[in-house]
Amino acid sequence: MNSPVMQGLNLNTPAYVKNAKLVAWVADMVALCKPDSVYWCDGSQEEYDRLCQQLVDAGTFLKLNPAKRPNSFLACSDPTDVARVEDRTYICSEKKENAGPTNNWMAPADMRATLQPLFDGCMKGRTMYVVPFSMGPLGSHISHIGIELTDSAYVAVNQRIMTRMGKAVFDVLGANGDFVPCMHTVAAPLAAGQADVKWPCNKTKYIVHFPETREIWSYGSGYGGNALLGKKCFALRIASNMGRDQGWLAEHMLILGVTNPQGKKYHIAAAFPSACGKTNFSMLVPPAGFEGWKVTTIGDDIAWIKPHADGKMYAINPEAGYFGVAPGTNFHTNPNCMASLDKNVIFTNVALTDDGDVWWEGMEKDTGSVPAHLIDWQGKDWTPEIAQQTGAKAAHPNARFTVAAINNPALDAQWDDADGVAIDAFIFGGRRSTTVPLVTEARTWMEGVYMAATMGSETTAAAAGQQGVVRRDPFAMLPFCGYNMSDYFQHWLDMEHKLEDMGHTLPKIFCVNWFRKDEAGKFVWPGYGENMRVLKWMIDRLEGQAKGTDTMFGIAPAYGELTWTGLPFTAEQFKTVTSIDKAAWVEELKLHDAHFEQLAHHLPKELVETKAALEQRLAAV
Ligand code: GTP
Ligand code: SPV
Ligand code: MN
Repeated sequence: MNSPVMQGLNLNTPAYVKNAKLVAWVADMVALCKPDSVYWCDGSQEEYDRLCQQLVDAGTFLKLNPAKRPNSFLACSDPTDVARVEDRTYICSEKKENAGPTNNWMAPADMRATLQPLFDGCMKGRTMYVVPFSMGPLGSHISHIGIELTDSAYVAVNQRIMTRMGKAVFDVLGANGDFVPCMHTVAAPLAAGQADVKWPCNKTKYIVHFPETREIWSYGSGYGGNALLGKKCFALRIASNMGRDQGWLAEHMLILGVTNPQGKKYHIAAAFPSACGKTNFSMLVPPAGFEGWKVTTIGDDIAWIKPHADGKMYAINPEAGYFGVAPGTNFHTNPNCMASLDKNVIFTNVALTDDGDVWWEGMEKDTGSVPAHLIDWQGKDWTPEIAQQTGAKAAHPNARFTVAAINNPALDAQWDDADGVAIDAFIFGGRRSTTVPLVTEARTWMEGVYMAATMGSETTAAAAGQQGVVRRDPFAMLPFCGYNMSDYFQHWLDMEHKLEDMGHTLPKIFCVNWFRKDEAGKFVWPGYGENMRVLKWMIDRLEGQAKGTDTMFGIAPAYGELTWTGLPFTAEQFKTVTSIDKAAWVEELKLHDAHFEQLAHHLPKELVETKAALEQRLAAV
């Protein structure tokens, strides 16, 4: 192989980088990808501003009106590169059975042979950015370091918001520290003199994980979880492997703190599939009638959870920012989020207003009207008339904002705490227009794991492909579990004994569904801040203050057990969102059967037994 030095290329390694393994890897990757230059990110504000300006000059970024949205930018992607690509995502474990039936798999050697020619020269005409980042507080025993090599300045600036990115990472890494190598290219090399496009990408895409060697290789996409490799690739797919080996959990969960009027604080971690309400729930503003209650955000997407010697499970948010769904976000649904977005934001694929601000579907609820004219996410003129005729959305349904956690007015004081927060309850929730009730509590840890393992949800715009179809999304981890799903279930089951042996009460497990619809296709449950009513019932259950009713699918609240102050929601409506339809559940359990059949290899037998028990309960309904 031609070494970079032989190619006459300076690696520009800063003097403070002492890690020989890192320098050797960068040299190898430079030799392979053949960038024009190498740039080591230091994470400074000056660097961020400079790279943003460079993106403006390249046409990738548009600077928004500083009077409306200070220091904020809009990027609009290639229309073919708008979401995660699950069918191009691979777990390349040595053995196929370790990737399991829910992941795409290729033998590592075959995948390396596939990727090698693709990566060869993939950065020609571009700069390779070396992006050092820490998932979790810098230097914490719980944290892990990643180094992303990318030819996208957009990725570099997003990573500065999403992670603890910069020079200090090299101090933690030292001469011998370990890191996860995260190789990323948009795969759009430039010939000499060839003009760039504003969103380079490639129609061929590979999002590849080698779990045994803890490596990530991403090819062809510049968008979200495909490209910001600290997020799904590292903090979920690779970290779930670390967690399995080391006895902890990497989960697709928000983490929130909820403090009651007496000042007692609880911590809840909740797993909802992509675009099913984690960001919203983590920033919840309690409605009228809940004076004195406070909800604070620890994380909005990912939790690393470790059992501690005191028998409790402690959770940290490995991220430092939010890459959240814009459409549907407004001052009614999520005022804290809107407040977070008033400055220092990168918006991707939202619409542009005539006065240089951003807009997306849902904002009309704040202003009472839709703007008369916009430039849509594809750069086309958009008017309400055009929308009516063509159905064109101004913002892409998976349009997102990238914003630092510190922008969030509801940020929890412990969000950055290296020890994390002790979890009192887990919530699992899918998007189901029928069948699954508003809330139930698992009678046992086992039943909770069953509920999570069999959770179904309607697909959303967060992933490329058909939308609105119910699929099983166990633990909201279907696209993110980096190993065999059944082994992952077993790992969750094992936690029970591990923690019980330590003599601690396990967190309760709840199952929720905010998304039941009526015959007219409208959501019945008002959702958003009103979810506080359900959260309060859960806390009452933790405190032994709500009796609950035994149902086929766990313990459910009676109408009178929820606080209804300030919300006209009748017992009849409550029935619509909580009823258990026997015929629908017979069908639902058939889907669980099919799911278990797919996962038969290593499926814990306790799950099959729990299903039999549920069937018996259903027969008795
Ligand atoms: P990822 O970032 O993809 O993992 O998604 P997320 O789970 O954080 O989802 P987010 O909170 O961004 O919500 C996605 C969509 O669901 C938005 O359009 C919200 O308006 C909508 N949503 C969130 N909470 C509720 C709710 O309680 N009820 C209803 N009906 N919709 C909700
Ligand atoms: C998700 O899809 O669950 C996300 C967005 O949180 S992305 O980072 O693109 O995966
Ligand atoms: Mn997510």
